Parts: sequence; C-alpha cells; structure tokens
Amino acid sequence: MLETVSRNVFLYASQSKSLNKAAKKWGLKFGASQVVAGETIEPTMSKIRELNEKGLVCTLDHLGEFVTSEEEAIEATDYNIKTLKAISEAGVNSQLSVKMTQLGLDIDEAFCLSNMRKILSTAKECNNFVTIDMEDYAHCQITLDILRELRKTYDNVGTVIQAYLFRAEQDVKDLNGVTLRLVKGAYKESPDVAYQEKKDVDSNYMRIIKEHLLSGSYTAIATHDHHIIDKVKAFVKEHHIPNDQFEFQMLYGFRTDMQLSLAQEGYKMRVYVPFGNDWFGYFMRRLAERPQNVAFALKGFFSK
Ligand code: FDA
Repeated sequence: MLETVSRNVFLYASQSKSLNKAAKKWGLKFGASQVVAGETIEPTMSKIRELNEKGLVCTLDHLGEFVTSEEEAIEATDYNIKTLKAISEAGVNSQLSVKMTQLGLDIDEAFCLSNMRKILSTAKECNNFVTIDMEDYAHCQITLDILRELRKTYDNVGTVIQAYLFRAEQDVKDLNGVTLRLVKGAYKESPDVAYQEKKDVDSNYMRIIKEHLLSGSYTAIATHDHHIIDKVKAFVKEHHIPNDQFEFQMLYGFRTDMQLSLAQEGYKMRVYVPFGNDWFGYFMRRLAERPQNVAFALKGFFSK
C-alpha cells in the first residue's frame, strides 16, 4: 500500500514540468549524484574514466525531458554530437544512448530522422555506436520504423526491445542481426499490449534473450536481476555462445558490486551513465521503480 503511494508520488513528480524545470537550477540534489554522473560533460568524463579503470565500459545518456520545440530538439542533437566528440577526445570507452522524443519525434518524424542521421554520422566518424532507447508503447512502432530506415545507411545503430510487450518476440525475430539491448520494460502499459505479471515478463524476457543469442546476433542483457543473469550465464555456457557475442548492462549507481564482479569474471559489463542538468524526472522514476532507493535519496537529502 505504502509502496504504491510512494511509487505514484514519485511518478507524479517525474511528470511535473515545473519541478523538472526548477530542479535544473538546484544542482544534483537529494542523493541524485549516486545515479546521475554529473551535470556537464567534463565531470562525467572523469566518472567514465574511473569506471573504465575498473574494467567497466559505458554508454552515456544526456538527460532531457519534455522536448516540445524544434529549438530544443536541435539543442539536444548538438549536445549528443558534442558528447560523441568529447568521448573520442577523452579516449574513454563509452557508447551513446539517445531517446528519440528528445530529438523531435513528437514534433515531426522526418525532422527526428534527420537529427538521428547527424548523430550517427558523427558516431561513424568517431567509430562509435548509438543505441536508441525504447520509450512508451505509443512510440514503439515509429521507433522501429526509424531504426529500419537508419540501418539502410548506418550499421552503428541498434535499439531496445521490452520483454513486457506481447510483440517483443516477433520484433526480436524481425531484427535478427541487429545489436539489441533487451530489457524487461519500464513504462506502465495496458494489458491489451503488455504482460502485467512479473512472472510472465520474466519468462518472456528469457525467451527473447535466448532467441537473439541463438540467432548469433549481438545481445545486451540489461537487468539488475541476478536470477536472470545466472540463467543467462548457464545458457551461454550450455550453448557455447562466446563472451564477445553478448554483454550485461546496468544503470550507473545500481548493484555496483555485481557490476564489478561480472567484469572480474570476464564478462563485458556496460554501465548506462545518465548525465545533464535535466536529472529530476530520471531520478524520480528510479525512486518509483524501487522503493529501497528512497533510503539513499533521504540520506542524500539530509546530508546536502
Ligand atoms: P527488476 O526490477 O525486475 O528486479 C528483479 C529482482 O532483481 C528484484 O526483485 C531484486 O531481487 C533484484 N534487484 C533489482 N534491482 C536491484 C537493486 N538495485 N539492488 C538489489 N537487487 C536488485 N527500459 C525501457 O523501457 N527502455 C529502455 O530503453 C531501457 N533501457 C535500460 C538500460 C539499462 C542499462 C537498464 C539496466 C535498464 C533499462 N531499462 C529500460 C529499464 C528496464 O526496462 C527495467 O525497468 C529495469 O531495469 C528494472 O528491471 P530489472 O530487470 O533491472 O529487474
């Protein structure tokens, strides 16, 4: 009961435009610095370097909420290009993750596609790879359509498939050969399109992981769930799937001990590193997802 209330409060806060706007001026508060690497590129590059030194590779995500104008989408595109160049100049091991709504998907599809092309051309020049994060169901088909269009020109782009969607298994089959990040799914979706029970999501998650691995395609398994990770380890061993055909991914600041131990066991472990001054919505969603995270948020609140 309390869990549901706190989840709804955090989700509500994450959607508040005024709180998100105000938080840009606050700096990283309430313990947010434990899950957001920095507000600007420079301190974030230092964090990436530290993670690399520990044997972890990264993917950077420049946070941004509520993009409604072309100016904001162009600004976000330019910032992503700047980030790719900064990764290259700093010589750190990090890819890039982007959200298409930040690049103007809700404004105009062709405009978003052209912004993505600019980012992917820079990524190509920098010999880097970009993952398109998957947002809510309403954006799923259009995201996959844009991905298909982009892949006619670029091979350095992949996307995310969410196991809670009924369509996930077919999408994974259709995307044979594409580097995919497989996740359980983070949004609240209708029972018409998505599994609602954790056990159903988990079993579909294992189903799509096996499908993509067995097809020979590069697979990123993005989860903090040790049950799933153990099953994946057993599966790749049984099927002689080489370590360079898959990787594990986790969010910055989550299960850091497990991140390190996976890297020490010889698995590729990629940390998804969010940064930027638009951190509030991301932070609130992480609190909503896992009430245990509230403890460190409160600690951060009282210590700042
Ligand atoms: P889940 O939350 O189901 O937890 C399962 C079990 O794992 C828990 O019961 C607990 O035992 C253990 N556990 C989980 N977290 C723990 C913690 N912090 N500490 C200790 N134990 C813990 N979603 C999306 O819709 N689109 C996207 O593009 C992405 N991208 C993305 C990238 C990366 C790198 C990650 C890790 C995740 C995403 N996601 C995402 C989010 C994803 O869909 C999902 O919502 C979250 O990862 C939560 O689900 P998990 O699989 O991590 O475990």
